[in-house]
Amino acid sequence: MRYRRLGRSGLEVSVIGMGTWQFGGEWGKDFTQGEVDAMFDCAREVGITLIDTAECYGDHTSEAFIGAAIERDRDRWVLATKFGHKFNAPFDRSEPRSAADVRSQLEASLRALRTDYIDLYQYHSWRAEEFFSDDVRAELGKAVDEGKVRHIGNSITGKTETHLDQVRASTDYNVTAIQCVYNRLDKRPEPDIFPSCIEQDVGVLARVPLASGYLSGKYKPGHRFGDNEVRGKWHDPEDQRQKLEAVQKIMADELPAGVDMAHWALAWCLLHPAVTCVIPGCKNIDQVSSNAAAADLAMVADDHPQAV
Ligand SMILES: NC(=O)c1ccc[n+]([C@@H]2O[C@H](COP(=O)([O-])OP(=O)(O)OC[C@H]3O[C@@H](n4cnc5c(N)ncnc54)[C@H](OP(=O)(O)O)[C@@H]3O)[C@@H](O)[C@H]2O)c1
Repeated sequence: MRYRRLGRSGLEVSVIGMGTWQFGGEWGKDFTQGEVDAMFDCAREVGITLIDTAECYGDHTSEAFIGAAIERDRDRWVLATKFGHKFNAPFDRSEPRSAADVRSQLEASLRALRTDYIDLYQYHSWRAEEFFSDDVRAELGKAVDEGKVRHIGNSITGKTETHLDQVRASTDYNVTAIQCVYNRLDKRPEPDIFPSCIEQDVGVLARVPLASGYLSGKYKPGHRFGDNEVRGKWHDPEDQRQKLEAVQKIMADELPAGVDMAHWALAWCLLHPAVTCVIPGCKNIDQVSSNAAAADLAMVADDHPQAV
C-alpha cells in the first residue's frame, strides 16, 4: 500500500480506500456482520486505512456494520462519512438539511460507528443554496470545536462541473477534501475542479473509480442488471451500453498486456496530481484485496505531490 496526505487536513490515507455504499443493500446483496468483519480483516492485512461511508447507505446500516468491525482498533482508520440525506427505503431518500438536522445526523452517525469522532465529515451532494448556509457552517464549526469532527469534506454531486463555486469556497468553508466522481470514462473534474483543489491544497477522494464496476472489464455491452441494484434501477440502459462499449475499446487499445483492467482503472485515477486516493466500492474479500493491489502498479508514481 502507498499513503498520501489528504490536503490541508494533514490526514495520512491509503491511496486505495474502501467505498461502502454496498453494505446498505442497494447493490443486489445483503451483508452479514461476519462478511463485513472478514472484509475489514482483509483491509487491515493489505494496509487500507481510509473508509468512506454515509448516513443513507441503509438507515445508518453501512455505518453500523463498520462500527462493529473496527471498534477494537478505531484509531487505525480514517473514517469518512456524510450528512444531508435520510434513507427511507431502498432507492428512496429525503434531504433534511437544517443545522439541527446536521446535528442529529452527526449524533446518529457517531452512535452507529461506535466512535466519539469522525475523521472526515462530508456534505453529501448539497445544492449551492444549501451549501452556502451560515447556520450549517456554524454547527459544523461547533462539532469541530467539540472534537466530534476532525475535518470537513464536501462530496459534490455527479454533475461535478456545476459545483465549481462550492469547490472554490473550500478554504472559506473549512473544507479540506472534495469527493467527486472521477474515472477513465468521466474526466469532468480535470479542467476546473482539480486545479482549484491543488491551488487550495484540498485533498481529493475520487469516487466511482470503476465507473460503477463497468471499468472492471467483466461486463459486456448488453449486460442486464437486476432492478434490485442501483445499476438496474437508476442507470440509463443506453448510457450503460455506451460505457461498456467504451471499456471494450480501452481494453483493446490502452490496457497493457497482463494487467487487470480494474487495477489499471484505479491506478489511472491515482496518476492525476490532484487525486489523493480512490474509494472503490467493494462487495467481498476478493475485491478488497484485488483493489489494494492496484497500488503496486508501477505507474502509481512515488513522486506524486501528496506522497508521504
Ligand atoms: N454522492 C456520494 O457521495 C457518493 C455517490 C456514489 C458513491 N459514493 C462512494 O464511492 C464509493 C465508490 O463508488 P461506487 O461503489 O458507486 O462505484 P465503483 O467503486 O466504481 O464500483 C463499485 C462496484 O464495482 C465492482 N467491483 C469492485 N471492485 C472490483 C474488482 N476488483 N473487480 C471487479 N469488480 C469490482 C463491484 O460490483 P459488482 O461486483 O457487482 O460488479 C462494486 O460494487 C461508494 O461505495 C461510496 O462509498 C459516494
